[in-house]
Amino acid sequence: MIKIFDTHAHYDDEAFDSDRDELIKSLPEKNVYAAVNIGVNLETSKRADEYTKIYDHMYGTVGYHPSDAQRIKKEDGDVISKLKDIALNNKKIVAIGEIGLDYHYEDTDKLVQKEWFEKQIELAREINLPISVHSRDAAKDTIDIMKAMHCGEIGGVIHCYSYSVESAKDYLNMGYFFGIGGVVTFKNGKKLKEVVEYLPMDRIVIETDSPYLTPDPFRRLRNDSTYLTYVAEEIARLKNISVDQVYETTWNNALKLYGLA
Ligand code: NI
Repeated sequence: MIKIFDTHAHYDDEAFDSDRDELIKSLPEKNVYAAVNIGVNLETSKRADEYTKIYDHMYGTVGYHPSDAQRIKKEDGDVISKLKDIALNNKKIVAIGEIGLDYHYEDTDKLVQKEWFEKQIELAREINLPISVHSRDAAKDTIDIMKAMHCGEIGGVIHCYSYSVESAKDYLNMGYFFGIGGVVTFKNGKKLKEVVEYLPMDRIVIETDSPYLTPDPFRRLRNDSTYLTYVAEEIARLKNISVDQVYETTWNNALKLYGLA
């Protein structure tokens, strides 16, 4: 039996407004038996919480994405305790995330991003949840913070891993999983293909980042968890194993990552 685990999706996105319920309900029919809706701020963390209560096969995370963290205002109050409340009251909240650093945009405020990354790592440690890390154009600062804060003890996943084989070694040493998605199917995805070839299979989980990063040849379409078959097929090709083995291993890895085993 094929079982697919989408470890990172954003079904709260407006791209799903027209057919969200129908689509999420239909996932098990397409072998997607588990999907994690990822929070990027308080609002989407609440949505993630809500979905876990409506759909048996949905899990959720709570957290502030670095870009959203930059927009936190005083009036928002103590957002850390608000995230904590949601997490402590719902066993299907399986991680703190997505948290991290994103230096891609011009308005980047590195200090603010670092501060919120650290606060949320502390929260994860306090309530004993793994972290889902978003890191873009910020390789050095991410690993520096994660080492300084002993993130190996917390565990988690580097979502949409985009760095080199060399950097991957640091995260492997810390016991982290690697979120591999549509990018591995892209013609310009050579760097990630090399990383996948290098990584041990027991550290790979698959993810869509829906509605973004749809695999080739569907790049211009909206992504959803059912497109993970293309990601799994490419991983199987790169690792020279069967697609079924990819499904089975990544399913078990996801259970371990999110403490569901
Ligand atoms: Ni995401």
